[in-house]
Amino acid sequence: MDKSATPCFPPGFVWGVSTAAYQVEGAVGEGGRGQSSWDAFAAEPGRIRGGDTAEVACDHYHRYPEDIALMADLGVDAYRFSFSWPRVQPGGSGPVNAEGLAFYDRLVDGLLAAGIAPTPTLFHWDTPLELERAGGWLNRDTAERFAEYAGLLGSHFSDRIPRWMTLNEPVSLTMLGYGAGIHAPGLELGFDALPAAHHLLLAHGLGVQSLRAAGAGSIGIANNHGATWPASQAVEDLEAAALYDNLANWIFADPILTGAYPDVLAPYLPGVADADLATIATPIDWYGINSYNPTVVGAPAAGTGGLIDGHALDASLPFSLRDVEGYPRTDFGWPIVPEAFTEMLLGFKARYGSKLPPIYITENGAAFNDGPGADGRVHDQRRIDYTAAHLQALRAAMDGGVDIRGYFHWSLLDNFEWAAGYSQRFGLVHVDYGTQRRTPKDSFHWYRGVIGESKSG
Ligand code: NOJ
Repeated sequence: MDKSATPCFPPGFVWGVSTAAYQVEGAVGEGGRGQSSWDAFAAEPGRIRGGDTAEVACDHYHRYPEDIALMADLGVDAYRFSFSWPRVQPGGSGPVNAEGLAFYDRLVDGLLAAGIAPTPTLFHWDTPLELERAGGWLNRDTAERFAEYAGLLGSHFSDRIPRWMTLNEPVSLTMLGYGAGIHAPGLELGFDALPAAHHLLLAHGLGVQSLRAAGAGSIGIANNHGATWPASQAVEDLEAAALYDNLANWIFADPILTGAYPDVLAPYLPGVADADLATIATPIDWYGINSYNPTVVGAPAAGTGGLIDGHALDASLPFSLRDVEGYPRTDFGWPIVPEAFTEMLLGFKARYGSKLPPIYITENGAAFNDGPGADGRVHDQRRIDYTAAHLQALRAAMDGGVDIRGYFHWSLLDNFEWAAGYSQRFGLVHVDYGTQRRTPKDSFHWYRGVIGESKSG
């Protein structure tokens, strides 16, 4: 089969691209924006590769008209971006920052004028610093503050925004931010991070309710999911992999879709009230999945918990992450296994059956660090191959009965890849961080062809 060939998708299938405020906006000290947990974290020596910061990032705050023009050229139906909570509500509570809201007014109106559906995430990890200092997501009050923030945005934008997401990947914020100290706020609490997961999920449920009360339309969440593969069929490996699977996947999906946490995690979530679970299970219209690769997990290994993007995990964890062997890798070292994408999606259908609402793929993509060649173009054939293979895998899941309504590629632009700084390029558009020049890569032109073909039927 031609590696770059793409299968057919049904009429109305939504094609999009994704970004997040902290990764692209820059202008961290402009327009009345407050500080976020990530500003403080990035300022700590040694936290971000190369000492990079997101102070300028892709300067999307100023260059959004150029970026909207790029998306119009690409032909996408929808743009997934995130509101920066500290730009909208600088201290995380109280009155809105009119200048911040005005930026999102311009962005949303610009998108609508270009025929692109604004598809925001309310929260993509940039916790207002004041809230973080009061305990952040370990503090239940942050969920209440989020509900208020969601209501403010809902009332202001509900007539212009057709599709909303509450949170992005609470798993990453819980595990990497509070559990392993790789992301902001940099705490290493291990399993004691799990109250943050509960408060994030509660924020999601309360946020859905606030959005609904404000008249917002279609509401979902973007959760990260990937297949978990046991290192072997030995009982210890199977048990360790099952525990990891619950921590990485089901703790974030089960309560939303079934109203209960996986039993095995109950000891780590003492005193969760039934009322909280009912709130978390407030019905949503669709379920967003970010997915990149599978994870191989085994029993604890002597002296190591394994590595996440080069960061060592605590050896005392009851599991260890192993290399996924036998597959090609992205420049970030992530294994490329399209069939695991199909497996994960079919697994969702099998686990939740009729309780599963329609799915959107809210992120999928790959870091390949190709830059402009002598001809001025960026020949990122590896991104084309990755994406084509994942679209085929997605189509296979649809053929297997999974109701998938759209695909958002991560990312429109190369951007600030969290602890990896600018070292990993995920964009369809290359960004020269010295000049802010945008160069559409070969994958951009290819993706435009995929979208065009899909629309011409
Ligand atoms: C997950 C996150 O939502 C996004 O912010 C990140 O850049 C990509 N995946 C790639 O790691």
